[in-house]
Amino acid sequence: MGDTRDLSLILDSRIPLIAIESPDERRVLSHLLQFAMHRGLAFYEWSATRGLRRGGLTSPAAPSVEFADPSEVLTHIFATPGPALYGLCDIHPYLSNEPKVIRHLKDIALDYDRLGNTLVLISHAIAVPAELGRVTASFKLRLPSDEELMAMVRSQARAWAKLNAGRKVKTDGATLSKLIANLRGVTHADAQVLIRHAIFADGAIGESDIPGVNRLKFDLLDAEGVLHYEHDTESFASIAGLDNLKAWVRLRQDAFLSGKPTDRPKGVLLLGVQGSGKSLAAKSVAGQFGVPLLRLDFGALYNKYHGETERNLRNSLQQAELMAPCVLWMDEIEKGIAVGDSDNATSKRVLATLLTWMAENKRSVFLVATANEIADLPPEIMRKGRLDEVFFVDLPDLATRREIFRIHFDKRDLDPSTFDLDALAQATEGFTGAEIEESIVSARYLCASKDAPVCTQETLDAVARTYPLSVLRADAIDRLRTWALGRTVPA
Ligand SMILES: Nc1ncnc2c1ncn2[C@@H]1O[C@H](COP(=O)(O)OP(=O)(O)O)[C@@H](O)[C@H]1O
Ligand SMILES: [Mg+2]
Repeated sequence: MGDTRDLSLILDSRIPLIAIESPDERRVLSHLLQFAMHRGLAFYEWSATRGLRRGGLTSPAAPSVEFADPSEVLTHIFATPGPALYGLCDIHPYLSNEPKVIRHLKDIALDYDRLGNTLVLISHAIAVPAELGRVTASFKLRLPSDEELMAMVRSQARAWAKLNAGRKVKTDGATLSKLIANLRGVTHADAQVLIRHAIFADGAIGESDIPGVNRLKFDLLDAEGVLHYEHDTESFASIAGLDNLKAWVRLRQDAFLSGKPTDRPKGVLLLGVQGSGKSLAAKSVAGQFGVPLLRLDFGALYNKYHGETERNLRNSLQQAELMAPCVLWMDEIEKGIAVGDSDNATSKRVLATLLTWMAENKRSVFLVATANEIADLPPEIMRKGRLDEVFFVDLPDLATRREIFRIHFDKRDLDPSTFDLDALAQATEGFTGAEIEESIVSARYLCASKDAPVCTQETLDAVARTYPLSVLRADAIDRLRTWALGRTVPA
């Protein structure tokens, strides 16, 4: 209801052009039709495919398409005194490459007193050209409130019951509030789709519907391809060590999920050697919180949309906010915002955009950034208050290496109790988790080729064949460690 009132206020204020950004074109058109009927105005819709038509007529097969060309339709409107209301759908592409279209719009706007024609430009995104700024008002539709969402759930539940001999949709209060919380931030049309999806599969809204709703919601929101929905999260049980990090996350879990802005945890940076389990840890934070994991793809951000990098980053961050509560994962962040040489200007602006967002974001979006190097990391990112903590993920100690062996044998259906885990842990000093995993994989292949079961000795042999990074790059790792000491917290 709020939308209708706000839109009426603008329409009544005698502003000739109104730009409405909305993915929900039908809803806008139906608002406009209602307004026109109330005021006794003529209402027309235009699009390049359907031309100009009387609004509100749903005849599927229009006999002919009139005024499909935007210049033609605007000439017609200029020559046809109103008062009338026009809804122009997707005229935005012509605003960037057809100066004549802009001029036509301006002519109509400047002649408003004579014509009385109001033009509403409806597009998913619309950049109003400077020439039209003074005669254009921008308007955004409100997103549905919790009450409206609940009403939509009820009405869809009734629809399902009707189709199923009056059977009731099964659900419970807790799941229902969770569903509503996950629907916040989507448009009315998208909410309908998501609610139907949750209900119509099995006539029940259960805990198991929530991940599906989240995934579909992400698909509906995603326009840029910069943010990826990671289907596979991990649990803390699949990572050995990192006890500090795990305890830190567990302590803050309730505060994060409550969504309250006070003292809400914002995020962490995981710094450490390649292969030490940082990416795995990022995934497991999402698993531990039980929320969607979204990965920001810096490569796509820089490559796909030349010159639109910051806008796309802002969109992606906004999208993440709409998915809240969620974990936003920026893997190898130094590659995205390096202070190094080349493409400096862009990555500086990207960093600025990111820092602003980190300072201002009010939603439950927990940022997990990982980095292998510090040399390239801009110091601003480390400043207190941006992120809650910087954890250093060191090479695993003896007990952790033993646990890594146990986890990875177990993962491959090899019984850990048949191995000498202590001997293996002893033999892998300086190995990363990834290197330990690789030696198991290597032993397995070798044994498979000999049709023999994997045993401790084969694994030890594989270990002996491995040259760990900590040996090959001892200096770099030493430097990283020295730097981390005192500046970071052990993970
Ligand atoms: N602490 C650990 N516990 C269990 N597995 C680990 C651990 N560290 C690394 N691994 C294994 O090594 C793989 C690669 O680690 P990854 O998380 O990609 O490291 P990083 O992101 O730090 O380079 C992981 O997927 C996991 O199988
Ligand atoms: Mg990684």
